[in-house]
Amino acid sequence: MSAASLTAEAPGKAILFGEHAVVYGHTAIVLALPLTTRVTVFGRTENDGPTYNGSREKFEANPYLREARRRHPDAFSGRTGVTVTSSIPPGSGLGSSAAFVTALTAVIGEGSVAAEGASLHAESFLTERGAQGVGSPVDTAAATAGGVLGVGEAAEGDRLWSVPAVGGHGPWIVARLPDPGWTWVVAYTGVPKDTGRTVTLVGERLQRSDGRALLESIGEVSRRGQRALCASDRPAVARAMEENQRLLLELGVGHPRSQELLDAVKGHALAAKITGAGAGGSVLALPAEGRELDVARAFARAGGVPFIVRPATQGVQRLATADPSR
Ligand code: PMV
Repeated sequence: MSAASLTAEAPGKAILFGEHAVVYGHTAIVLALPLTTRVTVFGRTENDGPTYNGSREKFEANPYLREARRRHPDAFSGRTGVTVTSSIPPGSGLGSSAAFVTALTAVIGEGSVAAEGASLHAESFLTERGAQGVGSPVDTAAATAGGVLGVGEAAEGDRLWSVPAVGGHGPWIVARLPDPGWTWVVAYTGVPKDTGRTVTLVGERLQRSDGRALLESIGEVSRRGQRALCASDRPAVARAMEENQRLLLELGVGHPRSQELLDAVKGHALAAKITGAGAGGSVLALPAEGRELDVARAFARAGGVPFIVRPATQGVQRLATADPSR
């Protein structure tokens, strides 16, 4: 069957404050990254199957693709080929899954499932959560809206939309925050993380008697960090990042590789912390002004894969598509 191909592209993300606590409704601050995932869905020809960066292997069984197909079997009829190209390292905690489901939802949702903003985001979140079993809408918010965002039950800022409650938490507000225009450095440890497993382990850790206090502390640091960011106060943002890092270690999401990277940038960065689920994944540094190359080199020398970034202003976009199919 012939059908026009459809393409959309969405950005990855780095969480500045509040990862894990956002699952329980506290506010996280997230930066969309200028690393993107592009998804094209097209009328399948004989030898086509889903491919990821040119590779067919394993991608047939991708849980996010499977979940999207399960939720919207009709949306794929006549367009069963899926091509994904991504500059976001998979499993890095830099939002590859969220960018994929959000771009995929944008293409299959055109005119029906989830056309824009709030509905596109809600559908992307439910697909990601359905595949992962746990989690908050923070990653899919960044992929949908771009820029700098606060996401939480009481997120402050310029409110964009809210995301329905699920799993006893939420609804989460998605709010836009001003971008102070700083340059950041993220680095992938090379150790892929497992978000579902790490969120579950953190859930068990939070059952202990100090669990609630630990979550409250992260929420408080995140709010303080947000105020500092909005005031373009670099030293105060750096202090909040260091405090958030200490609390993440108490949550148990440290890893020897992330610690090596964090140690490597001491003296170059004002602050650095785990970003995302942890237990591997990536780290995020705020360099002293003009020192981003030094920070990136220090990460690389310690074996990390660094990216010097400014937040991407653009969220998911549908791109002009080729017609006819393929
Ligand atoms: O998948 P990651 O590494 O980007 O982690 C997502 C952030 C968490 O707060 C740990 C989970 C979630 O869904 O909010």
